[in-house]
Amino acid sequence: MIVKTDADRVGMRNASRVVKEALCAAQNFIKPGVTTLEIDAVVEETIRKMGAIPSSKGFQGYPNASCISVNDVVVHGIPSLTLVKEGDIVSVDITALLNGYQGDAARTFAVGKCAEADLKLIDAAEKAFFAAMEYAVAGKRIGDISSAVEMYCTVHGYGVVRALTGHGIGHKMHEPPDVPNFGRKNTGPELKNGLCIAVEPMITRGTWKVYIDKDNWTVRTADGSNAAHYENTVIVTDGEPEILTL
Ligand code: MF3
Ligand code: CO
Ligand code: CO
Repeated sequence: MIVKTDADRVGMRNASRVVKEALCAAQNFIKPGVTTLEIDAVVEETIRKMGAIPSSKGFQGYPNASCISVNDVVVHGIPSLTLVKEGDIVSVDITALLNGYQGDAARTFAVGKCAEADLKLIDAAEKAFFAAMEYAVAGKRIGDISSAVEMYCTVHGYGVVRALTGHGIGHKMHEPPDVPNFGRKNTGPELKNGLCIAVEPMITRGTWKVYIDKDNWTVRTADGSNAAHYENTVIVTDGEPEILTL
């Protein structure tokens, strides 16, 4: 959506606030021995308590309020009775609908003491997002964001997943334009003042290649390397982008 009124701006902010709270609740809950289904329950409860709807649930048949992706799972991990253990990295991706507006964000959390290389991976996903924010300005183009993510990750030796992209967001979870994490500067749609996008680097310690599990959702790295995901909902402006889910 392109935010045109104060009502739109406030609507997007409020939906994003729900997502932020739910991520925070998940982060506080995650520890060795909890199941990903229990994490999801905390997420769903937080969203509903705030009067919002977990819009992932039922989206194209997806069964839960959050996507919880452990270690080599990149995204779309389905919550289950799997126990989270010390040393795991756990990505939590949440979409919430409030008053007709969607917010979408993801973080990767370290469980207890993790490998240094995994902590660096998590940090790189966040840094790649902020590298992209330098280009999230009205008048620039989607390809500027894409190339900034790709450049940051490849220079630092990470694989950038190509099978999935960021996206426009607004009244719907996924709206045009796609926001790929790879591409060339000066290409793609122009960024307009007020455009709402979800920018979401998905990166691996190995290559960009992924496959989808038998469950038809779980996206895993082809080489078994660990992956991280960092996503925020953003409003493009003529100046600094407004990052709603921070
Ligand atoms: N939140 C995801 C995204 O960033 C979409 C999840 S859809 C679901 O685009 F159905 F898998 F939940
Ligand atoms: Co998401
Ligand atoms: Co998204």
